[in-house]
Formats: sequence, C-alpha cells, structure tokens
Amino acid sequence: MQHRLLFVCLGNICRSPTAESIFRALVEEAKLSAHFTLDSAGTGGWHVGEPPDRRMRAAGQRRGYSIAGRARQVRRDDFAHFDWLVAMDRENAAALRALAATETERAQVVLLRDFERQVGHLMNGDDLEHLDGLDVPDPYYGGPSGFDDVVTIVERCCRNLLQHLQESERNR
Ligand code: 4NP
Repeated sequence: MQHRLLFVCLGNICRSPTAESIFRALVEEAKLSAHFTLDSAGTGGWHVGEPPDRRMRAAGQRRGYSIAGRARQVRRDDFAHFDWLVAMDRENAAALRALAATETERAQVVLLRDFERQVGHLMNGDDLEHLDGLDVPDPYYGGPSGFDDVVTIVERCCRNLLQHLQESERNR
C-alpha cells in the first residue's frame, strides 16, 4: 500500500518541513520508505525557493533531526498527487479547504494534531501541558523555545500518524 502525504503550513520554512523531515526519518527507521511519497508546501508564497529557517534547523539538530527542503507553495494539483494534505494549524486547514474543488478534496485535508491522541496523549510526567491544543503554534515571530516546541509536538504526532497508518493497513 502506497501513502502520499503533503505536510502544509503557512511559509513552508518552519513547521511543515519539520513534519516532512521527521516523518521521513521515522519511515526510514521503520524501513518503509518504499511505501511513502512525502513532501511539504506553504499556503503562502513569500519564502518560495528558500531552505528551512535556520532557527528551525537548529532546533531539529538539537533533537537529532536534519530538517531540509526548498519552500514551495501549495498547488491545485496537490489534491490529485497526495492522499492527505496534513495541515499544521486550523488556519492552514481552512486555506486548503478553500482551495479544494469538491467534497472529496475537502475531506483530504486533516490536522496533524488530529493524530495526537490516537495512540497516546502527552506522556506521563511530561511537563508539556502548555503545548496542548489543536494547532502546531507558528514559531516564526517568537523565541527559540517555540522552535523546540514545534519539534516536540511534530515528533509525537508523526509517530502516532505513522502508527495509525500501519494499524489501519493491518485492519484492511
Ligand atoms: P511556517 O512559519 O508557516 O511554519 O513556515 C512561518 C514562516 C514565515 C512566516 C510565517 C510563518 N511569514 O510570515 O513570513
């Protein structure tokens, strides 16, 4: 079974390249690379062609992830080329739904944090309640800790998303 996932945020230089890179690392670790097509894009076009933000890359590095990519903007044909468009926040999801042409396309849009509680919520003992919510918070105009929070949230949700896809395949 082939899975095609497009991770989407606003600028495609912070959150969605992080989600793409971390998901790719998890898929490689699970030896499932052949089953996945992964990419990321932004609903906005201001940073097209740029690599991920250096603050985001530094936060990834601190946790052992190499965050790579070149920013591009979401396109209409992404709905045809990907099964799911995985939005980092509700604003991104609304922008994608506005771009969708049919009910089927609208249903391809999901929130990354929909997967947070599927396979286990915040781990016991985690002091992460301040990270609760439906959105991966936009770190762009904040301090360095916001970028570390992105890695924490995205890593947890990507693990759950991968597990969810593997489980739904087992139950097919
Ligand atoms: P991202 O972060 O959506 O996670 O890539 C942002 C990057 C750039 C801007 C906003 C958010 N910006 O306003 O330029």
